[in-house]
Amino acid sequence: MKSHPMLTPILYVCCLFFLLSYLTIATSTPLYNPVENVVVNCGSPGSLKGDDDRYWIGDKGSKFAPTEESNYKSNTSVAQSQVSVGIVPYMTARLSYWQFTYVFPVTPGPKFVRLYFYSAVYSGFESSKDFFTVKAGSFTLLRNFSASIYTDSLDQKNVYKEFCINVDENKKLNLTFIPFTSTSMNYHAFINGIEIVSMPMDLYYKPQDVIKGEEFVPAYVGQPKPIYIDYSMALEMVYRLNVGGSAIQAKDDTGMFRKWSEDRDYLLSGGFVPRDPSLKPKYTKIPNYTAPDAVYQSAISMGPDRTKNKQSNLTWGLPVDTGFNYLVRLHFCEIESEIHASGTREFYIYIDYQLAEERADVLLWTDDNDTPYYKDYVVMIKNKGNDTHLLSIDLHSRLDADLIDAILNGVEVFKLSDSDNNLAGANIAAPLLDQQPSGASNESKSKKTTIFIAIGSVLGLLVVLTLVCCMVLCKLKKTKHYGSYHPLAKWWWWSRPDPYRKEFSRRTASSLPGELCRYFRLDEIKTATNNFNEDLIIGVGGFGNVYKGMIEQGNMMVAIKRMKQESRQGALEFMTEIKMLSQLRHVHLVSLIGYCDDEGEMILVYEYMANGTLRHHLYDTPNDPLTWKQRLQICIGAASGLHHLHTSTKHPIIHRDVKTTNILLDEKWVSKVSDFGLSKMGLDNTAVSTLVKGTWGYLDPDYARCQQLTQKSDVYSFGVVMFEVLCARKALNPKIQEEQRNLAIWAQKCIDRGTISKIIDPYLTNKIVPECLKVYVELAESCICDHGIQRPTMNDVMEKLEFALELQEQAEATNDTNSEVVSFRVANANGDPWYNNFYHGQVLESNSETKLSTISTGLSYPSLDSVNFSITSEDVSSCTKNSSS
Ligand SMILES: *[C@@H]1O[C@H](CO)[C@@H](O)[C@H](O)[C@H]1NC(C)=O
Ligand SMILES: *[C@@H]1O[C@H](CO)[C@@H](O)[C@H](O)[C@H]1NC(C)=O
Ligand SMILES: *[C@@H]1O[C@H](CO)[C@@H](O)[C@H](O)[C@H]1NC(C)=O
Ligand SMILES: *[C@@H]1O[C@H](CO)[C@@H](O)[C@H](O)[C@H]1NC(C)=O
Ligand SMILES: *[C@@H]1O[C@H](CO)[C@@H](O)[C@H](O)[C@H]1NC(C)=O
Ligand SMILES: *[C@@H]1O[C@H](CO)[C@@H](O)[C@H](O)[C@H]1NC(C)=O
Ligand SMILES: *[C@@H]1O[C@H](CO)[C@@H](O)[C@H](O)[C@H]1NC(C)=O
Repeated sequence: MKSHPMLTPILYVCCLFFLLSYLTIATSTPLYNPVENVVVNCGSPGSLKGDDDRYWIGDKGSKFAPTEESNYKSNTSVAQSQVSVGIVPYMTARLSYWQFTYVFPVTPGPKFVRLYFYSAVYSGFESSKDFFTVKAGSFTLLRNFSASIYTDSLDQKNVYKEFCINVDENKKLNLTFIPFTSTSMNYHAFINGIEIVSMPMDLYYKPQDVIKGEEFVPAYVGQPKPIYIDYSMALEMVYRLNVGGSAIQAKDDTGMFRKWSEDRDYLLSGGFVPRDPSLKPKYTKIPNYTAPDAVYQSAISMGPDRTKNKQSNLTWGLPVDTGFNYLVRLHFCEIESEIHASGTREFYIYIDYQLAEERADVLLWTDDNDTPYYKDYVVMIKNKGNDTHLLSIDLHSRLDADLIDAILNGVEVFKLSDSDNNLAGANIAAPLLDQQPSGASNESKSKKTTIFIAIGSVLGLLVVLTLVCCMVLCKLKKTKHYGSYHPLAKWWWWSRPDPYRKEFSRRTASSLPGELCRYFRLDEIKTATNNFNEDLIIGVGGFGNVYKGMIEQGNMMVAIKRMKQESRQGALEFMTEIKMLSQLRHVHLVSLIGYCDDEGEMILVYEYMANGTLRHHLYDTPNDPLTWKQRLQICIGAASGLHHLHTSTKHPIIHRDVKTTNILLDEKWVSKVSDFGLSKMGLDNTAVSTLVKGTWGYLDPDYARCQQLTQKSDVYSFGVVMFEVLCARKALNPKIQEEQRNLAIWAQKCIDRGTISKIIDPYLTNKIVPECLKVYVELAESCICDHGIQRPTMNDVMEKLEFALELQEQAEATNDTNSEVVSFRVANANGDPWYNNFYHGQVLESNSETKLSTISTGLSYPSLDSVNFSITSEDVSSCTKNSSS
């Protein structure tokens, strides 16, 4: 962003751009057209286009420059690290050790005020020494606020805060930034971006004299009388969630540039996701600008299991500051066409554990399907000696309704200013993330373009010519501005190819920030792999080959996974894998560096794992055997990777194909779990039923029988991995006698017979201390319990393995290495309570054997790679029997 020598042409381009953006806004007719739509890029000169397609005006030398005392000037600065956030408005900031005020002359009425902060290093200012108060007129929006502490608590670098403030007639909107003063220390205030956007008079404000009728007056939860939200209050948006749907970008809002986030991080229980992206909501009850269509096109409901629904709630938990009233807006739309009469789906709504609605019935409120509606509630969150509180929203089915179910489409939560006109809370985040835009419908984009073109022709050739000229110049300009930042990088997986994409220049392959994922051109991939040279193949998987490759002019080794051309149906898996991997970063998960989807290719670029797969260090290998401690550490790592998959997102991610060839080792022998191609978002507490997939020998018998996929299926496979590691035997070896073919079954038999030490890897003989072996074997055995419920969680596994390693290390430290491996009978009935195996050695054990062999006989073991297969109806019926017992 250096200043250009060719200033005049750039200015010309800018002018054209304003014309263009004006036309785009005017012609695509947003549902709401704000009178004020001011976006200020603090600390920057000139104007720049943001991700939201708006032009952000630099405050430097413009009419938006802040007022300050002449002796105490503020400074402007460019953030020294810029990779993880968008350029506009985060790249530049205004900073000061003294107070400064932005004055916005605006029309009267309620406004959104959005403040953007990026805590980076700015030259001349210490990065963690920001403590300041922000006031808007008489309101305190933030007090003793530290953007750096706040963003740290969010584990990210940028944050935005949204407020609603009403501006009275003949008043200006003043925003004052006041650094905290202290005698011992210099603190500063800073700001990266300010946005002022008008809103409809009665969108969130509900003053007594404006709302007609009782219908939309917010109910005061737990109080007999309703409450009015009048213009003398200020509001702070704390949550805006598109329930059951994806995040919505500012530019895809109804014209007010609100961002909507996903709800899945807050959904604590339950959840089916009815979704109808083709649905055209009918705005007969509420204004069409209330929320974007996408909010109403998706929802969360309880799903078809009536028995379960009777005893459970759909629950969202939203951390909030205590000591404030909150406005909770719930958005509804009955999108399931099978439900078309009121009285069908009726439910209770509890907010903060208090009954807010005794008989919620969307169709009663709306008279019709596909008709959006909202309900407002105000709830008081008292200060009970704690700064934060989990505000819960519970939907509970009514047993007298026809359908035992509930539904919710969207949630907005606003903090209301208190009697001191204060909104400031604790400095730690109630998590409000500047979420990655997503689901951004390409539809609306193309609609916009179509309308635009139509108007263009109406306006005549001149405008069209201007446009064409403008496009060309703009492309040139854009190439300059976005040279190091690709606007699609954040949400490219929803976008179709874009001409600018080719312009995306490399920068951050080794240090990928957050969710960014690099795009590679096909020719880069070809160079990296020597045109897919077969000599560079390091792996062959169900989807295609994996090549070793060099990028960054030969400075960085990567693994390149190229999907087979013919596996078109793999497109879904491709997207699943990219989307998941780019969101998941963990030391024990193989990182995704980038992707390529040129010319119909599907290619993923991963970090290179120098030591290959775990399996190739266990058996049938020229490699040196791994020591027992190495094996334990590898297992601990893999377990922690899987634990992360299971727990880091609200919907657990189930790997579905845990095996020793999917556990990779880097040059330092750190183990990482790879290949999420088969993963599938699991819904909370709900077993996801899909086509049974997985690998022979590792397959959870419970899953194979019932097709009920849970995290415990991964635990089973992990148990098999543990035996494989201990015994250095294949999970399934069709070449040996039948009794021993399936390692899990065979190991279980040996444990029961007390002969497990006979099948341990001979290399390990006399190297495992007995206490460690006991813990390890008991753990592995508990993992392969026939029923998921009896198995430990991945976290239990990780902890027990760490304990085993500790035992081994302790014994080695006390030079106790030569103690004999004793053969022992693993405790059962009196074992540890958390995996107490009460079926142990009884009917179900042989049961599991028959099941697996039933499945196997039909297929005579094709290869040991991943295979899909179907299961017979007997298997399923036996499953129903078992699970109902
Ligand atoms: C801020 O700007 C003033 C002059 O405008 C300069 O004297 C001062 O050194 C700057 N402060 C920092 C921290 O850069
Ligand atoms: C805002 O600032 C201007 C100029 O400093 C001042 O005249 C005006 O009274 C202020 N308005 C409010 C509402 O504080
Ligand atoms: C401001 O916040 C910091 C840390 O959150 C705290 O140490 C300090 O005491 C606070 N100052 C005031 C005036 O509240
Ligand atoms: C939105 O509602 C307004 C007022 O009811 C109406 O004039 C306008 O045509 C609607 N827009 C669309 C796209 O339906
Ligand atoms: C549902 O939530 C409400 C309010 O929090 C609570 O009283 C009730 O016990 C919950 N019911 C179930 C089955 O969890
Ligand atoms: C305050 O809330 C946090 C998070 O909900 C909780 O961990 C902590 O124990 C609570 N403290 C008190 C004193 O209630
Ligand atoms: C939008 O994206 C979807 C999925 O990527 C695609 O099927 C559809 O054709 C696209 N629509 C338009 C108008 O580009």
